[in-house]
Amino acid sequence: MPIKSRIRTIPHYPRHGIMFRDITTLLKDPLGLYTTIQEIANRYDVVTIDKVAGIESRGFIIGAPVAYQLGKGFVPIRKQNKLPAETLGRDYQLEYGSDRIEIHVDAIQPGDQVLLIDDLIATGGTAEAAAGLIEDMGGEIVECCFVIDLPDVGGRARLEKLGHSVFALCEFE
Ligand code: PRP
Ligand code: ADE
Repeated sequence: MPIKSRIRTIPHYPRHGIMFRDITTLLKDPLGLYTTIQEIANRYDVVTIDKVAGIESRGFIIGAPVAYQLGKGFVPIRKQNKLPAETLGRDYQLEYGSDRIEIHVDAIQPGDQVLLIDDLIATGGTAEAAAGLIEDMGGEIVECCFVIDLPDVGGRARLEKLGHSVFALCEFE
């Protein structure tokens, strides 16, 4: 079941020049959603993973069912001022704008093996910030996992340069 064929492209959204890769068409397809979660979960050895972390908001849609399938807990990495307890945060640049993400300070224990999940990697700024937060808390990134990689934007290379393993189910130019 080709996952890529179920992802819709919206030209010039949210601004001119951006080819927006829209996963809602993949998510609404029962086989599309099922295959996406299975293909990611089947890649990982449950013994070596302690937690799955997902990045708000589209990373939650993919990350939580992967955590469930692996039998692990899920840690949300959220946009600024969304988490209720004490947080650690990082600012980062997006392909279109800038933002800040936060994690609860008690979400990760030192030595935790963490699978980091988001729907898409473009510049890698979001994932770098998320991985940095996890590492600041003593966690170790098993892999940074995405449904979509946009290799031309350079995010994968950026994360690999930092020593992270990167996996994506499909690529778009
Ligand atoms: C999108 C996407 C990734 C990030 C990728 O999220 O879901 O999290 O951008 O871009 P980068 O690799 O250049 O950092 P967005 O901030 O648009 O939030 P959303 O998931 O709430 O739509
Ligand atoms: N997030 C950053 N760049 C994106 C793109 N081209 N499509 C969908 N989500 C994105």
